[in-house]
Amino acid sequence: MKKVEIPLTRAGRLINAGPVVLVTSHYKDKANVMTAAWVTPLSFSPPLVGIAIHPARFTYDLIKKSEQFAINVPGISLLKAVEICGTVSGRDVDKFKKAGITPVDALEIDVPLVEECLGHIECVLVDAFTVGDHTLFVGQVVSASVVEGIFDEVWKLEEEEAKPLHHLGGSFYALLEKRIESPSTEEEEEEGD
Ligand SMILES: Cc1cc2nc3c(=O)[nH]c(=O)nc-3n(C[C@H](O)[C@H](O)[C@H](O)COP(=O)(O)O)c2cc1C
Repeated sequence: MKKVEIPLTRAGRLINAGPVVLVTSHYKDKANVMTAAWVTPLSFSPPLVGIAIHPARFTYDLIKKSEQFAINVPGISLLKAVEICGTVSGRDVDKFKKAGITPVDALEIDVPLVEECLGHIECVLVDAFTVGDHTLFVGQVVSASVVEGIFDEVWKLEEEEAKPLHHLGGSFYALLEKRIESPSTEEEEEEGD
């Protein structure tokens, strides 16, 4: 296969297709919501997830102060909100109002969730590392929830509106087409029956 080189600054886009999320944060009288694509699971036990946040973001200040954040997983119906929350700062405007999304109470932390999202991960900050020009906030998961019927250990991906949205880079997004189980797993399960 012939390969072509791409700019180093675009290398991340080759592995960029995890779900794009809306990170919510809250400190004193300020609540905020910000789009983030650089999000990753980090550990099963304890359950840890990481988000890479640039220090210039208002979200960065709120998470540093409150030591809590939530990861909200939007579907395709929130594409416009994802763009708004990723281009405007909460320092200047109430992005929940501007993007037409609804803040609702979380189960375990004092940070609003985005009602219209498909799933939510509530986190308590346990570590923060400077990584180049971003900070990797490590959150311990204290609660996780998802819309009933669309997730059974993994996303079902049955209906377009019930699929997480993925960010390819720039103004490009994608939805996963369908769920595929590896043949070896199916055989093992059949053997186990
Ligand atoms: C699709 C998309 C993905 C983004 N991913 C990240 C990210 O992972 N980390 C980050 O620091 N900023 C990211 N941004 C930029 C922030 O969302 C943007 O700067 C936002 O206005 C910050 O809001 P705040 O100042 O209210 O926190 C992304 C923006 C878009 C549109």
